Amino acid sequence: MNLKNKVAIVTGAQRGIGQGISLKLAELGAKVVVTDMTIEPCEKVVQEIIVKGGEAVAFKLDVTSESEVKDVIAQVKEKFGQVDILVNNAGICTTEEADDTSKIDKIVDVDIKGVLYCSKAVLPIMIEQKYGKIVNIASIAGYVSWAKLHSYSAAKGAVISLTKCMAGEFAGMGININAVAPGAIQTPMLDNVGKELGMDMSQTLMAIPKARIGTPEDIANAVAFLVSDEADYIVGQTLIVDGGYTVR
Ligand SMILES: NC(=O)c1ccc[n+]([C@@H]2O[C@H](COP(=O)([O-])OP(=O)(O)OC[C@H]3O[C@@H](n4cnc5c(N)ncnc54)[C@H](O)[C@@H]3O)[C@@H](O)[C@H]2O)c1
Repeated sequence: MNLKNKVAIVTGAQRGIGQGISLKLAELGAKVVVTDMTIEPCEKVVQEIIVKGGEAVAFKLDVTSESEVKDVIAQVKEKFGQVDILVNNAGICTTEEADDTSKIDKIVDVDIKGVLYCSKAVLPIMIEQKYGKIVNIASIAGYVSWAKLHSYSAAKGAVISLTKCMAGEFAGMGININAVAPGAIQTPMLDNVGKELGMDMSQTLMAIPKARIGTPEDIANAVAFLVSDEADYIVGQTLIVDGGYTVR
């Protein structure tokens, strides 16, 4: 897989899965735009990429602000002249009782509207280029039942549906839109949710046929394939990367 001369934007990239995706895309030759809520940690990821011989820039980007999204995408287009790849990775996860609806708006803003705003902002550029790859980071929570993840599961299910809807509409214009649904991946999000749910990691491991928690690199490898030209005939799919959790 070769992403030389491609420009890739990754959201929520200051740590965790987004950081792993940024490093992988840069390793494959892409110029990576590392974005997140705060710029300083993004600049550290950029430095990590540059030290390894890659090319990257950092931008502050809150995906819930449509105006900020439009502005950053316009700046990236101005700087590089193209936007080839968008990875909608930014996300939050909340836990709540079934009768608690206080967190749903925030989840919808980040996990669903964020994907829509960023995709809508890059699509005109990709349509003009007749080339583009979008990968949305969903979750196996969009498929399976987990207590107290009501808002998050609903949002990630929506991301899977949105991926199919948009993919069918834009595939004929040279744009591939797909998703990756991670299982349990070792990041600050998993640590926080694990604590909130009182998750017993040894039990979680027993539910994973691969008998290990996933890494950001596991997800980055799947994303790298989906944004490559080798995945040209893959449209609207959600690739589950969960060590086998959902096949049991
Ligand atoms: N870690 C897991 O086990 C797991 C499993 C399934 C899916 N996911 C998904 O993978 C993606 C990355 O998660 P992670 O585990 O790396 O989590 P994380 O919390 O470590 O990282 C998420 C990043 O998103 C950023 N973010 C949050 N709100 C944002 C906003 N409004 N605008 C821009 N950035 C914002 C955060 O600042 C953070 O850097 C998320 O979409 C998450 O739902 C994670």
